[in-house]
Amino acid sequence: MMTNNDLWKEVEEGKTKFITLNDAERIYDSSVFYNPRMVINRDFTLLMLETIGSLENRPLVYVDPLAGTGIRSFRILEELSPELIECIVISDKNPKAVEIIEKNAANLNRKDKIRIQRSDAFALMSQLMQEQIYPDVIDIDPFGSPANFIETSLRALRKNQGYLFATATDLQVLCGRYPEACYRIYNAHPTRHHLCHEVALRILLYNVLVSAGRLGLAIQPLISINHEHFLRIKLKVLESKDTANIQHIEQGFVHFCPRCSYYLVTKIKETFESNQCPKCETDMETAGPLWLGPLYDKEYISIMQEKLEELELPSQKQIEKILNLILEEEESPLFYFLPYVLRQINKKGVTRQQAIDGLRDAGFKASRTIFDPEGLKTDATYSDLVEIINKF
Ligand SMILES: C[S@@+](CC[C@H](N)C(=O)[O-])C[C@H]1O[C@@H](n2cnc3c(N)ncnc32)[C@H](O)[C@@H]1O
Ligand SMILES: [Zn+2]
Repeated sequence: MMTNNDLWKEVEEGKTKFITLNDAERIYDSSVFYNPRMVINRDFTLLMLETIGSLENRPLVYVDPLAGTGIRSFRILEELSPELIECIVISDKNPKAVEIIEKNAANLNRKDKIRIQRSDAFALMSQLMQEQIYPDVIDIDPFGSPANFIETSLRALRKNQGYLFATATDLQVLCGRYPEACYRIYNAHPTRHHLCHEVALRILLYNVLVSAGRLGLAIQPLISINHEHFLRIKLKVLESKDTANIQHIEQGFVHFCPRCSYYLVTKIKETFESNQCPKCETDMETAGPLWLGPLYDKEYISIMQEKLEELELPSQKQIEKILNLILEEEESPLFYFLPYVLRQINKKGVTRQQAIDGLRDAGFKASRTIFDPEGLKTDATYSDLVEIINKF
């Protein structure tokens, strides 16, 4: 039970007012976790739910098994169209969190749409399966890595039409500061070099793919984001062993040069012999296994753009920028880091936009990338890129 000494705090996020505990200076020390900086993460949830709702054309069952104060679910109820949601299950294993969730729910207009419980996430999902409740969306928003929760969530989701959302905040692990931990948790090699954020997202997706494959499921990433201190993936889960089989052999590794940014992608069954960069003879690094398929479904992204106009979200401007960049980005996995390429060929003053224009004029696909302000995605080889840059 909450003691009399606990302090409450009223907070507003988006159009939703709620209360949380005010029992610590640092958010990480509070006995119930609420991080206002994650507002963009929650905004994206609202936006994707509106998008899915309009495509599926049926009310959704949304499960928030690691709910904290419940703010994510309350914002869905307060800020999205009423007909979008059939039911929201809000749960946390922390009794203080559940107490706050209940207190917040008491002020809601739409109490009939929520079910609150205090459960461990694993127990909750087993219980939902026993009750034959198959969620349309399960949203995993843990401290650190979501890896632990993925397989149980995939089992519990509505088959063929289910959506999995997951946040990862263990970037120190996924971006290579603690490679042993990455290998232990994700069974993959990360990198600390220029490709680290895209590699981190692709390691995370590869993990979902492996868990899905065991259950005869395939995945369709709708949006994959690396923003500030978190990664966020949202994907549709499809029931198809054949697609899952194909998806598995299409994945693999990136071998790259940390000096000149030359890189090569190999599929999981292919062998890679040389570990010396063919351009500058530096030792190459390998990262993976990685998801090498698309990170986004651009049809969903376009609908998100439309829905963004209709909703009034606090991080609207930032989201708009991210969606525009995603729509512009070429689909090829990984990218060249232009400053390293220029250094390798002793060239100065060529801008990323000039290189992109030059590549496009020569018939290649080329674009900026969301992962690095100096990164460049293209289907051109390193030699083609160098030839084009040298013309400037
Ligand atoms: C990052 S916080 C959630 C924040 C919240 N989703 C939001 O948007 O503000 C993670 C929450 O997961 C809860 N948690 C951790 N492990 C859990 C488990 N195995 N089952 C249920 N809840 C768990 C913690 O008590 C904490 O409230
Ligand atoms: Zn090199």
